[in-house]
Amino acid sequence: MDEIEKVHKNAVIEIDKVGNLSKLEELKIKYLGRSGTINKLLQNIKTVSNERKKEYGQKLNQLKLQLTELIEKHQLRLINQSEKSQTIDITMPGNEMLKGSLHPVTIAIQEISAVFSKIGFIRMSYPEAEWDYLAFDALNMPKTHPARDDFETTFLSGKPHERFGKMILTPHTSSGQIREMWRLKKPPIRMINIAKCYRPNWDATHTPMFHQFEGMCVDKNINITHLKGALDYFSQSYFGPETKTRLRPHHFQFTEPSFEVDVTCTACDGKGIVGAGRDPSTQKCKICKSGWLELGGTGMVHPNVLKEGNIDPDEFSGWAFGFGIERVIMMKYGIDDIRNYYSGDIRFLKQF
Ligand code: DAH
Repeated sequence: MDEIEKVHKNAVIEIDKVGNLSKLEELKIKYLGRSGTINKLLQNIKTVSNERKKEYGQKLNQLKLQLTELIEKHQLRLINQSEKSQTIDITMPGNEMLKGSLHPVTIAIQEISAVFSKIGFIRMSYPEAEWDYLAFDALNMPKTHPARDDFETTFLSGKPHERFGKMILTPHTSSGQIREMWRLKKPPIRMINIAKCYRPNWDATHTPMFHQFEGMCVDKNINITHLKGALDYFSQSYFGPETKTRLRPHHFQFTEPSFEVDVTCTACDGKGIVGAGRDPSTQKCKICKSGWLELGGTGMVHPNVLKEGNIDPDEFSGWAFGFGIERVIMMKYGIDDIRNYYSGDIRFLKQF
C-alpha cells in the first residue's frame, strides 16, 4: 500500500514537470504501459495477504485512473500552450485545394456553340428519345434502309404513335432538322443541334452513347459555297487558323449532293508525314496517314426533306452537316481511344 502511495506522489510531481508532448508520452509508457509501473505493482498482488488483496486491487485501479486523467489533462495543456506560442509563417505554401473541372465533351460543346453563335446559329438540343418517323422517314430514308435495322438502332418498347411510329433512342441529330423546320415554320433557319446519340457499337472509335452536332442553314439562294465557307470557318476556329477543309462526294439520303468533309490533320499540319523531309527519321503520320482526317457528313438539304418541313424547295435551299463531338476532340488532341471519355479515369480527364 505504501508503495502505491509513493508511486502516486512521484508521478504527480513528474507529470507536472514535463514540458513537451514526447516526454509526456514517455511518462505515459513508464507508468501505464504494458510493462509499466502499474502493471508491475499488479503482479505484486501475489505477495499481499488474502484479507488485503481486495483493498490493494482497488487502490491500484484508482491510481491507474488518476494517472490516466492527469496525463490527459497535462497533454491538453501542452497542446494549448504550443498553439498560443506558434507564430504564423505567411510565406509557407498552403494546403492544395482539390478542384473539379468540366468534362472534355462539355468543354467542346461550349466551344462549338460559341463558334456557331458568332455567325448567328441558334443552339438547340432536341430529344434523345425520338420518333422513328422523324429520324428516318422524314429524312427521306426508305423503310428498308439498313440503319433502321434493330442491329443499328435501339427501339424503345411502348405503344407506337399513329403517325410517327415507334420510339427510338435517336441514332443521329439529323431528326433535329425536321423539328427545327416545324418550330420556325419558315426560313431563315440557322440551327446547331447538339445532343446525345445512340448506336450499339463499342470499340476504339465508337461508344454506344456519343454526341453529335448538327448544323442546318436554310434560306433563299443558299448554295455549296456557303456550306464550304461555314465549314472552313468552323474548322479554323476550332482546330486552328491554318486548317483546311475538303469535300469528297458521298451519299446520304437526306442531302443531294452529299459529301464527306475532311480537315487537314492537326498532328502533321496536313503533310501526312512527320519529320524533316529528306531526314531518314521521316515517317508517315500515324494519326492520319494521308494528311487528312474525316470530320463527318454534309450536303445540300434534299428537296424531300425541305418538303417534310413544309418549306418550298423551289423557293428555298439549304445545307446541313452532322459531326461527332467526341470525334472532333480526338482529332484536335490526337486521342486514339474514344472510350477514355467514359472510363472515369481522372488522369485522362484532368488534362482538359
Ligand atoms: N446523320 C449522319 C450520320 O449520323 C451525318 C450527316 C450526314 C448529317 C450528312 C447531315 C448530313 O446533316 O447532311 O452519320
